[in-house]
Amino acid sequence: MVKVAVVEGDGIGQEVVPVAREILAAVRPDFEFFDVEVGYGRWERTGSACDDETMNDLRSADAILFGAVTTPPDPDYRSVLLQIRHDLDLYANVRPIRGDNVDVVIVRENTEGLYSGIEWTEPDRACTVRVVSRRGSERIARYACTLAKPRRHLTVGNKANVLKSDCLFVEICTAEAVRAGVPCTTRYIDALCLDLLMRPDRYDVIVTTNMFGDILSDAAAYLVGGLGMLPSANIGERHAFFEPVHGSAPDIAGQNVANPIAAIRSAAMLLSHFGDTASAAAVEEAVGRVIGAGIRTRDLGGAAGTREFGAAVLREVGRG
Ligand code: NAI
Ligand code: MG
Repeated sequence: MVKVAVVEGDGIGQEVVPVAREILAAVRPDFEFFDVEVGYGRWERTGSACDDETMNDLRSADAILFGAVTTPPDPDYRSVLLQIRHDLDLYANVRPIRGDNVDVVIVRENTEGLYSGIEWTEPDRACTVRVVSRRGSERIARYACTLAKPRRHLTVGNKANVLKSDCLFVEICTAEAVRAGVPCTTRYIDALCLDLLMRPDRYDVIVTTNMFGDILSDAAAYLVGGLGMLPSANIGERHAFFEPVHGSAPDIAGQNVANPIAAIRSAAMLLSHFGDTASAAAVEEAVGRVIGAGIRTRDLGGAAGTREFGAAVLREVGRG
């Protein structure tokens, strides 16, 4: 039996995750769910955003369905999400971008790069170390090649013209692609950002380092109707974590206007992860039919609330 830890987190996480969870429970009544509280709200209430016991709860789950957490710009506050990704060693951040004329998967290295956490502040400068390791690059390259193999090709997003660390990244990724028999090209990340938006049909699987992948995937949301549409998976050897790409959106939280599609699609990725591609497809198709019927949240130009949209998807899933 699959045990799913559910973390709503902060802001709209508390609105979109219940919708996704209800749909997941409807298609897989055999899944077991348990709630785990982490985030800024918990920090304000208890002084701790996530402790060792919470980490053990997360570790005990087969999969984690996560909403979003608020990270205040407070130097003493450690990002819970970075902590979880690090502690569970969720090295591959997989972000599919699918819509009319676009079917791209961005595979972002999730444990090092510029988000290595190695940084310090001096009186007149602050430094962050960008770490690209052979082991980290090999495993993300392998993961990307496994995804690309049954598809078309791989693009390595990089800035090797400026960064020594990316020379290593490119060398390792292209070697893995050759080994896997995957056609591979390299592109500088700045040009890639623009080209992906202008000619998305040229791209298939894109592998890149941590911060470049973060920025590239938010920009790519433009192709499919915004941040409310994009799901993601964070995958490690032993743990799997599914979350919408968007954050806690404090500007719209508590108003029942958030788009739950990213969270629902993240639940569909969870289903695929456990081999249930039929249920995953049923959920995706139900979302498609609801959008097709003109039921949309405000960000997509509609008037449906988060809960109303979710209820419509639930009805469609039952019908499909
Ligand atoms: P954000 O993704 O929360 O919001 C950016 C913009 O997109 C906002 O205008 C928001 O209203 C809109 N938006 C996002 N998701 C939406 C949805 N489902 N439906 C409709 N509109 C949506 O990013 P922002 O504003 O940079 O960050 C807000 C907070 O979230 C910060 O504390 C940040 O640290 C945190 N954050 C957390 C993430 C996570 O938990 N994975 C990821 C990104 C940000
Ligand atoms: Mg981001």
